[in-house]
Amino acid sequence: MAPASCVRSVVHWLVTALAWTVLCEASPQGLASTLVPSCPTQCICLSQSQVVCNSATLRAVPSALSSSVMQLSLSRADLRVLRSDAFAHLRQLRRLSLDACNLTRIRPFAFRGLPRLNELYIQHTPLATVDAFAFAALQNISSIVLSHNRIAQIEGYAFAGTNFIKLISLRNNPIKRILAHAFSGLNDVTQIELPSGIRSIEPQAFAGLEGVGVLELAYMDLPALLQDTFHGLTRVGRLALRESDLGIIKVGAFDGLRRVETLEMCNNKIDGVEELSLIHNNSVHTFKLTGNHMLETPEAVVLEVENVVIRGNHLPCECGRDPLANPLALTEDFAEENLCISPLKIRGRSLASAAGAACRGEGGGSARARAAAAACRGRAFAPRLAFTFAAFAFLANS
Ligand SMILES: *[C@@H]1O[C@H](CO)[C@@H](O)[C@H](O)[C@H]1NC(C)=O
Ligand SMILES: *[C@@H]1O[C@H](CO)[C@@H](O)[C@H](O)[C@H]1NC(C)=O
Ligand SMILES: *[C@@H]1O[C@H](CO)[C@@H](O)[C@H](O)[C@H]1NC(C)=O
Repeated sequence: MAPASCVRSVVHWLVTALAWTVLCEASPQGLASTLVPSCPTQCICLSQSQVVCNSATLRAVPSALSSSVMQLSLSRADLRVLRSDAFAHLRQLRRLSLDACNLTRIRPFAFRGLPRLNELYIQHTPLATVDAFAFAALQNISSIVLSHNRIAQIEGYAFAGTNFIKLISLRNNPIKRILAHAFSGLNDVTQIELPSGIRSIEPQAFAGLEGVGVLELAYMDLPALLQDTFHGLTRVGRLALRESDLGIIKVGAFDGLRRVETLEMCNNKIDGVEELSLIHNNSVHTFKLTGNHMLETPEAVVLEVENVVIRGNHLPCECGRDPLANPLALTEDFAEENLCISPLKIRGRSLASAAGAACRGEGGGSARARAAAAACRGRAFAPRLAFTFAAFAFLANS
């Protein structure tokens, strides 16, 4: 308490002295930056480069700050609206905190003219939308932390022209929809953190997003994964769809997604799959489908992917239907490594072990007969051969 109030009184003294000087000499320009380090009344200037303005009476970014400020906190100020170029007079800024500053709106290009800004924090504010170009023109920033706000929507092009960011965090916001082009014009982000509870992702939501280390979409509640959801998303290290209700995976959900090192779908509930298609053009290196609960057998699956892992999924085991006739039966141990979700009496058993039990006494034929039938159906391409091999292995073991 003592140092702060001490600084404050020194500051007040300086400001008073400066005011007198200005009044007497009628020369408002130049003095602030040359004679005395100016410090606005609502601020504490800890040094030439570090300023804290956390007064609730502050209604705008102080204009009288020294241009040498590198770290500025406006936490708990009452800023409400950030206008375009709001910080353009502070070109040396490296760290800016706007936590709890009652922000409701960020106008386009609010942070323009800050070539050295490295960290930007806007948390615990009533901010409800991220408008187009709100964060445009931030070059080489390492983190934009937007957690604990009331952001419900990210407009298209909110981050346009922003490059080489390590982290964009949108955790703990009530975002329900991701609109088309929300991340357009954003390049080379190490990680984007989205909140839980997303209820819709528009087609092309990630279009124009180029170069992401990790994009994790978790705890969503979607009616469907629509066609072109990932269209225009390019160069991704890991794209993960996890712990979500994905609804129906529509035809073409992954159309236009390009160059993904690892695509994971883990621990989701999936009501149906119209088509799960990753073709050569997607250039997905590894696809992992693990721990999902699928209420229906997928209708069509095409996986032109180098590595495929399909394990620990819960799939319907219908009476009379061979587990290896599932279009997902593309890996060698598919029937051993995946489980029945239905019917109830065999839930949780491996597809392989449950094949006979599902229909026992119901006239569905034996597992052996059905596996043999599957083996004889004569598939043309390689993964099917693997599955045929698996069928024989299964026969040999039974
Ligand atoms: C925040 O802004 C609203 C108007 O948008 C105002 O009524 C309220 O007093 C402000 N709160 C604080 C803590 O400054
Ligand atoms: C980008 O930021 C890094 C540190 O985060 C710095 O070393 C580098 O010089 C910056 N590049 C430009 C072009 O400002
Ligand atoms: C493959 O992707 C490129 C670039 O997006 C596109 O121009 C081309 O038409 C695609 N080819 C096929 C066969 O889909």
